Amino acid sequence: MTTATIQTLGEFIIANQKDYPDASGELSALFAAIRLAAKVIHREINRAGIVDLAGKSGEQNIQGEQQMKLDVLANDTFKEALAARGVVCGIASEEEDKYILLDDGLNKNSKYVVMMDPLDGSSNIDVNVSVGTIFSVYRRKSPVGTSVTDEDFYQPGTDQVAAGYVIYGSSTMLVYTTGHGVNGFTYDPGLGVFCLSHPKMRTPEKGVIYSINEGNYVHFPDGVKKYIKYCQVEDDDTQRPYTSRYIGSLVSDIHRNLIYGGIYLYPSTSRYPNGKLRLLYECNPIAFLVEQAGGRAVYGVGQRVLELKPTSLHQRVPFFAGSPYMVSDLEAFMSGRVQL
Ligand code: AHG
Ligand code: MN
Ligand code: MN
Repeated sequence: MTTATIQTLGEFIIANQKDYPDASGELSALFAAIRLAAKVIHREINRAGIVDLAGKSGEQNIQGEQQMKLDVLANDTFKEALAARGVVCGIASEEEDKYILLDDGLNKNSKYVVMMDPLDGSSNIDVNVSVGTIFSVYRRKSPVGTSVTDEDFYQPGTDQVAAGYVIYGSSTMLVYTTGHGVNGFTYDPGLGVFCLSHPKMRTPEKGVIYSINEGNYVHFPDGVKKYIKYCQVEDDDTQRPYTSRYIGSLVSDIHRNLIYGGIYLYPSTSRYPNGKLRLLYECNPIAFLVEQAGGRAVYGVGQRVLELKPTSLHQRVPFFAGSPYMVSDLEAFMSGRVQL
């Protein structure tokens, strides 16, 4: 790429502002804060083995999960970057018990709230496996100038204004949607900018990858068990057996499947009767991206994740997402319409 052909994320956002007639520049400013925080986390992750950033923080989050030092750092970095620029009136984070009210100065007059999983896949940090950040942006329901309330955060995923993830992998990428398709930007650390590398991302209609933590097999619902067996049975027409790929980092598993085609499954298990993934910070933003790339995301047969009305901040939900035909096949097994 030359300077003539590179399009940076900043340039891309300006060039596409015409898609948002009521845009006031606030969303662009919010994205500027997100990409700055992403660069900071990129830098820290890349030296996590050298500086004292690996390992556990010694604290637990509200969900009783062990926090890693990088969980805490990522949470603080994104919070600070967003709050300091006056671009959000409230933040909900997987690492915070309650949502954060930003009712000082500029923030109070902002029209957006952000929900985030600051570091996804954090149990993988110490072994150099890709992790990510997931974010989701909504227009507030409460009047501008007042403090945010529950109704600002308990909005269905269909109301998302923007959503995306950053993947800190073999390269760092930012992938996002504002409801006009999905675009991916690769970070050039030398230049310090994200460059458009994956324009108009579309997921294949069918794929050959299934991603699930099969260690929980005995506790899966019957339809899921049958679908997994279906994935494993030989059939030349459908290129089965499919390939099993599971990193244990949602962002990485989804990113791979989005590009190659595949299905991601996190059903209910004995330990997590409602599934493990969180509706607000993980499922909704990923579902928005997957749908915008031509895929589907459901929590049960014909149950679109994006239409589920949240009832609590840290709500969990079963999650099945990916290539549209693969999700439909899964539903056929889950509904009992098809037997092995
Ligand atoms: P987080 O690190 O934000 O808590 O998320 C972990 C999630 C998700 O990234 C991943 O897909 C899933 O947990 C893996 O769970 P299992 O280890 O149960 O497979
Ligand atoms: Mn996560
Ligand atoms: Mn997390």
